[in-house]
Amino acid sequence: MGEWFQILFNPRFGAERKAEFGPVSRTRLFNRDMALLSGPENNLLLFRGEHKFVEATWPASTLKLLGPNTLSTQEGELHLRRRRLLAQAFRPKALVGYLPLMEARISAAIERWLQRGELALYPEIRALTFDIAAALMMGAHERTDAALVRDFETFAAGLFTIPADLPVTAFGRAKRARRRLIAHLHAAIDARLGSGETGQDVLGLLLAARDDDGSALGREELAEQMLVLLFAGHETLTSGLTNFCMLMAQHPEVYARVCAEVDRVAPRGPLTVEALGRLADTERALAETLRLQPPVAAAFRKCTRTFEVAGFTVPAGWLTGYRIRDTHRDGALFAEPGRFDPDRFAVFEETCPHGRVHAHAHEGRYLPFGGGARICLGMEFARLEMRAFAALLARRCALTLAPGQDLTMKQVPVPRPRSGLVTRLSPRA
Ligand code: HEM
Repeated sequence: MGEWFQILFNPRFGAERKAEFGPVSRTRLFNRDMALLSGPENNLLLFRGEHKFVEATWPASTLKLLGPNTLSTQEGELHLRRRRLLAQAFRPKALVGYLPLMEARISAAIERWLQRGELALYPEIRALTFDIAAALMMGAHERTDAALVRDFETFAAGLFTIPADLPVTAFGRAKRARRRLIAHLHAAIDARLGSGETGQDVLGLLLAARDDDGSALGREELAEQMLVLLFAGHETLTSGLTNFCMLMAQHPEVYARVCAEVDRVAPRGPLTVEALGRLADTERALAETLRLQPPVAAAFRKCTRTFEVAGFTVPAGWLTGYRIRDTHRDGALFAEPGRFDPDRFAVFEETCPHGRVHAHAHEGRYLPFGGGARICLGMEFARLEMRAFAALLARRCALTLAPGQDLTMKQVPVPRPRSGLVTRLSPRA
């Protein structure tokens, strides 16, 4: 089994290895050799090596459930072509069109939460992010129906399991849930095509999107690609938003600045992308949340060709990967890395091309959305939804954490507080 438990569950594993052996060392994971790399220069090396000497690798259960026709499982030239096609639904103009729906769903959820007063936020945010994604991606224009949510949760629960296809196993249940989800997506595609108007949501823009040679995605592939978009964006956004709420409640001085900024820049009325872009303190608080608790801790790769790193040879066939959480917690890159300090991004932005903190992925040191040819396709979608959520929360709510709860972090599959974040929400005075 190698050191799988350490690799997956010990948040200090990478740092401990680096301290003992330096930025390149060797381990074993599920009977495979693995090169453990760390440091910004090695992150950049792997980003540059995508499709040249490394490719994505997934456990068998994930591969079977995602299917071969998805961005996450496609490689080489096909992957690059599909990215160009799918990116048509994530351009700035497309995002402007998604904002009213995001705003409506987030506002409605916040009003419901305020009525309840005290509640566990993690499951609520999980339902909200799925609700928004399903509306934009599956054409579910009313609030998402419960059966769809259940199927998606069952599907997600089987993604990282033993791939035994039996009625009682998580994998077997996930396979059947996948069949129903794909059928639902096919029905949504057919309904949209039948209506004669594709529409401006993700589904509509992808129906209209064309490949370099002018061809559209086939119905089967489109459904699988939509499913991977739902999967890639769901747990990640839920983790980011939950941890943002936790950190705001734990750092009232930061939340007060976020609230003051929202009162100044976007106090009422429909949100605009332009106004959200002017929320500098809010953006820094979100960026710092993703630094401290990156929803994706690391990304695994398989070496397709032997390559050299810092004088070592990594043979073809080995596993490797870049390590987001370890990079973000590296004291040589971030002073007092365990401290929540959004202001560190003020300095960061000055040295950053175009003042955009996410450009630092290119320097290999701030990479919540990964980097290189597989950098998160939904990055701008996620950043928009997070900013909209933060602004609407700040407009309406004061936050207090219920006492006595377990706020230690569960790490797998995404970081979030064990208690589910039991929070008291009250209207801001
Ligand atoms: C890939 C993070 C939200 C779609 C990635 C990767 C990271 C990441 C680190 C790279 C994985 C790798 O190198 O193997 C995040 C975070 C999010 C988020 C932190 C939220 C805070 C989203 C959303 C969507 C999305 C909302 C879709 C709407 C994707 C897709 C890929 C990806 C399709 C695969 C790209 C490829 O293989 O070319 N994401 N993501 N993500 N993400 Fe996100």
